[in-house]
Amino acid sequence: MNKKSVWKWASLLAASMIFVAGCNSTGGESGGSGGVDVGIVLPTKDEPRWVQDEQRFKDALADSDYSTEILFSQGSSAKEKENVDALLNKGIDVLIITPHDGAAAGAAVEAAKQEGVTVISYDRLITDTDAVDYYVTFDSLAVGAAQAQYLVDNADGSGVPLYLYAGAASDNNAFLFFQGAWEVLQPKIADGTFVIANSSEAEALSDKADLSRDELGKIIGQITTNWDANEAKNKAQTHLTAASDEQKGDVAILAPNDGTARAIADVFGSDSAITSYFVTGQDAEKASIQYIIDGQQSMTVFKDVRTLVQDAMGMAVDILDGNDPETTGSYDNGAVEVKAKQTDVIVVDQENVKAELIDSEYYEASEFTGLE
Ligand code: BGC
Repeated sequence: MNKKSVWKWASLLAASMIFVAGCNSTGGESGGSGGVDVGIVLPTKDEPRWVQDEQRFKDALADSDYSTEILFSQGSSAKEKENVDALLNKGIDVLIITPHDGAAAGAAVEAAKQEGVTVISYDRLITDTDAVDYYVTFDSLAVGAAQAQYLVDNADGSGVPLYLYAGAASDNNAFLFFQGAWEVLQPKIADGTFVIANSSEAEALSDKADLSRDELGKIIGQITTNWDANEAKNKAQTHLTAASDEQKGDVAILAPNDGTARAIADVFGSDSAITSYFVTGQDAEKASIQYIIDGQQSMTVFKDVRTLVQDAMGMAVDILDGNDPETTGSYDNGAVEVKAKQTDVIVVDQENVKAELIDSEYYEASEFTGLE
């Protein structure tokens, strides 16, 4: 899958507006099979990101006439397949699924397709199978680009040591995040603003702005956190142990999400030779919002899960009602062009954290200390 085929974006602004109303328009129809109408499978309860999604699904479903069930795969493709089979046995018509591993989930959704179930890939794309009907997602290239731009905007002078970290190579998003970031960072590596401190693979490719999937894979393979905070912490410790004096001082850190950002920030924050660091994140997890308020994490990319849930449930309801869901573009998953609905993201740091997350009622001020 190359960059050009990943996302063909047909910018239909109006579509996203029309659709919000669809979520509650469930009509009188319900539970035709007597079981569950919509099955939802999320990757793990161990990361606050997905517990957030569960809660937002529950909030959105409170008024729905359709019955739903949410299951977690706990970071296991085998468990994920069991979950899908269990939901198929309950007669679901629509499956909303975030794969633990984008390629390995093929077997689960192919089983669903065989039962005539409509499959919606949620946040992460299921790859290399034609058994995916729709994809609801945030703009993942923009997530990476925003993280990188934040580091660029805050880089002081030249020769700033740059530490790179990525998500799990089994998650298509990890490629999109890193690709989006690389396109912004690479010119600033080429012009000497940044000096890569922890990846020989990235260094070897540092004169190329446009990386192939394989090239991205080489870098990601070296700097992956596997979306695991412990792995991120261990890697950061190893990197700082190996770092020379010039690779310390005021540094920039591309961390792929909030869980890994906090772990990496803890490591860098406790090294006395690190005089300051900027570190990125994403998901607006509560713990990271507190880190941002306290100056321990620099930014997060806020992905309003309420919108993604509305998009997914709106699609499911359209399908159950016999209507064609609204889409705004498509993603190539390696086998087919999957019709997609994409949502924008918002950069949050100390400056706008209150406006974006408290005033918008995403979180309550009382959940944090030291706000303002
Ligand atoms: C999601 C991120 C999340 C990460 C780890 C990605 O696919 O888009 O929001 O932080 O997985 O779970």
